[in-house]
Amino acid sequence: MMTVLVTGANRGIGLEMVKQMKARGLDVIGTARKPAEADELRATGARVEQLDVTDADSLAALAETLKGVKIDMLVNNAGVGGQAPESFRDTDFAAIDWTFEVNTLGPMRVTQALIDNLDAGQQKTVVHISSVMGSIEKNRGGYYGYRASKAALNMMNKSLAQELGKEGYTCVVMHPGWVQTRMGGPDAAITAEVSVKGMLDVFAGLSPDDNGRFYDYQGESIPW
Ligand SMILES: NC(=O)c1ccc[n+]([C@@H]2O[C@H](COP(=O)([O-])OP(=O)(O)OC[C@H]3O[C@@H](n4cnc5c(N)ncnc54)[C@H](OP(=O)(O)O)[C@@H]3O)[C@@H](O)[C@H]2O)c1
Repeated sequence: MMTVLVTGANRGIGLEMVKQMKARGLDVIGTARKPAEADELRATGARVEQLDVTDADSLAALAETLKGVKIDMLVNNAGVGGQAPESFRDTDFAAIDWTFEVNTLGPMRVTQALIDNLDAGQQKTVVHISSVMGSIEKNRGGYYGYRASKAALNMMNKSLAQELGKEGYTCVVMHPGWVQTRMGGPDAAITAEVSVKGMLDVFAGLSPDDNGRFYDYQGESIPW
């Protein structure tokens, strides 16, 4: 059975992803910063593990706990929206630092911590939940930290794809759409159910030919 690990799985897109993956019969490990409070995640029947993607001790503990466990697909989903200043003049650099810590360095740390588990898996797939807001071509202004953190995540995925692609890995970035979650807000265009159903259909069709690509939840390519 295929084993998937999803970060930031206690709410939003991550939680919905675990629910739908379980419904598709996958073996799922969902991580949460505070597992004791992750009632909805536990209710899915997934294995629940603690993980803060910015915390070296938490990452080391997860790697130790999962030693010897094969992971076929890692979904680096955990993320933060960061500061949304109207103007560059109001930029809070500490907020940008934190956004990069979580959104860019976080996924790199998780992938590094679990690389032995992924090496042992069959599918060798790493998915980064990025955003169209990380597309330089489609930038319509604002959200300096968030946009830059996702653009950097996209670049990191491409570098990873170059290196790990030679070992049979498929590393992709996904835009989930504008989704009704705490981050996306109630006025967002689509529900988490619709976003995740689309993304799981895309995941199911991934092959090494997709290594290094950037797709939305409907499988459309997004320009860098
Ligand atoms: N919603 C959208 O419209 C949209 C659009 C494009 C891309 N995305 C991307 O989709 C992903 C999921 O977003 P969402 O809408 O589901 O957001 P969300 O509802 O705000 O959920 C974010 C998740 O990330 C976790 N998280 C935050 N910081 C973390 C850390 N340091 N370590 C581990 N987990 C951490 C949160 O855990 P806690 O509960 O502990 O805070 C939560 O589980 C993000 O990468 C986001 O950038 C979302």
